[in-house]
Order: sequence, then structure tokens, then C-alpha cells
Amino acid sequence: MIIAISIVIALALATWQWLHSTIEPAPFGTKTYESQWSTLINTMIHDDLPAWVPTWFRVYAIGVVDTVATVLWKRIIEANTAEQLVRTYATSNNKVNNNSRLCIITGGDSGIGLEVARGLREAGLRVIIASRTAEHAQQAKAHLGDDVECLTVELTSIKSVRQFAAKVKRMVPKGGIDILINNAGIMNTPCHITSDGFDAQFQTNCLSPFYLSLLLLPWMNKKQGRILFAASSTLYAASPDLDLSLARKEYGWDGLTHYAHSKLYISVLSEILGQHLRDSHGNVQVFCYHPGAVRTNLFSHTTLFALPISSHVFDFIMLTPSEGAITPLYLCLAPASKLSAARGTKPRESGGYWSSTVRQPVPGCKNVEKAWKAALDFCGLTIPEAEALIRA
Ligand SMILES: NC(=O)c1ccc[n+]([C@@H]2O[C@H](COP(=O)([O-])OP(=O)(O)OC[C@H]3O[C@@H](n4cnc5c(N)ncnc54)[C@H](OP(=O)(O)O)[C@@H]3O)[C@@H](O)[C@H]2O)c1
Repeated sequence: MIIAISIVIALALATWQWLHSTIEPAPFGTKTYESQWSTLINTMIHDDLPAWVPTWFRVYAIGVVDTVATVLWKRIIEANTAEQLVRTYATSNNKVNNNSRLCIITGGDSGIGLEVARGLREAGLRVIIASRTAEHAQQAKAHLGDDVECLTVELTSIKSVRQFAAKVKRMVPKGGIDILINNAGIMNTPCHITSDGFDAQFQTNCLSPFYLSLLLLPWMNKKQGRILFAASSTLYAASPDLDLSLARKEYGWDGLTHYAHSKLYISVLSEILGQHLRDSHGNVQVFCYHPGAVRTNLFSHTTLFALPISSHVFDFIMLTPSEGAITPLYLCLAPASKLSAARGTKPRESGGYWSSTVRQPVPGCKNVEKAWKAALDFCGLTIPEAEALIRA
């Protein structure tokens, strides 16, 4: 029912816009009908569906809303491009000298990450890609050019994350990281409990990005550093109770529930980390974002997207990786003034959850402090150790 209503409303809105507007892309960071509408429906799916509706069903419903609201909108109405965004913020009106800025991006060898790395290179930044394998790192170099640097990290291993952070600290002077993009992720993969004892989706999408960010915090540019976490609109599907036991729990066919949980959890950690940094008067900004419904390898374990017939349909209607790169590129390149909380919302300097280059509200969670302490514990950090990294 919700799916049918969503499709009808989106088509009506899109047609109306098409007929009545001058069909020009909205300026980056502008609230569009599409961004307002998809937030409204996501919030309804989160708040108004009865509690017995399972998370995996909510994930599918949100996926359909996303595809209809964001993707058809962009297909029917002329949309912004990543190239325009790079031109807008990297060359003309941005006073920051990009040539001296350094960005590290995990999973920058595939899908959205590869396009973000490309955009940042074109904007003149120095880019270090953190790949899972040396082979994928080489392929990224072949796509982007030899001046892109590559390192390897296995995000399903706490030891590998620690070794990666140590390697970066040897390569880069303290304060030398301008942007850290925690892009790498997996979705709905067959259940795998890692050697550290965590569900691989939780460790890859949430725990390791959080741990890596804490370890690299003392190396971030203290005046204008930015840390980005890839979240997902599926966070609206997860239970607000934030079941901490899911981090170590096995699953059968229901990997989507664990995916949505990992994305809600990282959005909660991102918010608290940003708050701690503000409290310690630091200028490092923390954001999480939803890139849109983007056709990438991420969907290779989700049957509906992998079936031969539906696969072609999704190839056609979903966003391209380059379109999916727009929101993270915006968070990297837009001047700080463009990233403040929108007027009328709770005043906060920056941070939050972004989609379609607009800051969006996120559902509240019940046990955020417990979740923060549990995450530190999972990383093997005490609260004073974490505070020392935040203040360093
Ligand atoms: N596509 C969407 O519609 C969508 C929507 C919402 C959020 N997102 C998020 O956006 C991010 C990028 O996704 P994508 O769509 O671009 O997917 P993708 O093309 O599959 O890229 C994922 C990247 O993460 C890397 N990775 C996976 N597991 C890793 C590990 N254990 N250690 C190190 N690197 C690992 C992959 O490396 P290998 O190739 O070597 O495995 C790959 O480079 C993810 O966090 C995803 O959850 C995507």
C-alpha cells in the first residue's frame, strides 16, 4: 500500500515540477521537494508503521521510496552532476587552497568511493585510498592516475585498522589529514563472525570506521578537519532501541536488519563524536550521509537486485556512482558556512546526517550513551583513553 502510494505521489510531483518549472538544477544544499518528500516518508516508515513490521520489510520500503523520490526525480528533471559540484566549490568561490589538502577514503577503489576519489582529485586534493586488497588498489590507480596513493586495510580486523592508522601516521605529519571519509561498507552479506567476534557487517560499517576515526583524530587538521561516515537511509528502518547484542549475533537470511542496525549505530556514534569535539572546542566537523540509491556492487547479495530481469531495470533507474558521489563531495568541498544547521532547526554549528546535499533529521534512539560506551568497549578503549584521543 505504502509502496503504491509512494509511486503515485512521486510521479505526480515529478510531472508537476516538469510542467511548471524552468527545469533547472537546484543550487547545491537547497531543500528540494524530493529531499523533503523522502524524509517525510522515511519518518513515517519509522514512526507510524506498527512495531511488528519487520526491519527487512522497512528497508525494502525505504529503498523503493528512495528510488522513486530521488532517482526518478533526477531522471525526469535535470539534475546536478558531480562535475558541476567540483567546479562550483573547488575552483570558483572556495578560498581554501585545495592543492595542500589531504583526504583519506576507505573503499575508494569501487562504486561511490571511486567517484568521490575522482572528484577530489579533480578538485586538486591529495588522495589516499584505503583498499581491502592490493589488487583493487592497483585497479583504482589505473582509473584515477598514478598520483593517487594507495594503502590496504581490512576493516573486519581491529588489528589491521590499528596497523593502518600507524602506517598513515608515519606517512603524514600530525595535523595533516584534512578529510577522512569512512566510505567502505558491505550489505546483506552471508553471515560471518569475524576473528574479533563481531558480525562482519557491524564491524565493517560501524565499529572499524569509528575506531579508525578515533585513532586518526590526533592527526586531523585541527582548524578545518572533516570526518565523514557513510550511513544510509535504511537507518530509518532500524529499531530505535538499538539492540547492542546484534553486534555479535549470527543471522540466517535476514542480513538487512543487521545492515540497517549498523548504519543507525554509526549515525549515533557520529553525532556523539561531533558533540564531544564541539565540547572540547575542537574545529573538526563530523558528518554522516546517505548517498542515494546507487547501482553498485553493494547490492550483489540482495536477490531482488541480482536477478537477471530486475537487475537490468535497476541498472536503468538507480543513481550512477557519480550521482551517488554528490552528497559526500559536497560535505568535503562546501565551505563551512554552507554546512551549518538549517534555519529553524536546533542550532548546531555543523555535523548531522545529510542526504541530497541537505541536512536531514534522524530518528532519536533510546540508549545512545550506552551505545557509545559499548562501542568504546568493543574497540578496547576506556573512556579516559577515548577522551585523550578527542582532546589530542
Ligand atoms: N549504493 C547505495 O545505494 C548505498 C546506499 C546507502 C549507503 N551506501 C553506503 O555507501 C558506501 C559505499 O558503497 P558502494 O555502494 O559504493 O559499494 P561498493 O561499490 O560495494 O564499495 C564498497 C567498498 O568497500 C570496500 N570494503 C568492503 N569490505 C571491506 C573491508 N572489510 N575492508 C576494507 N574495505 C572493504 C570494498 O572493497 P572490495 O571491493 O575489495 O570488497 C569497496 O571498495 C557503503 O558504506 C554503503 O553502505 C550505499
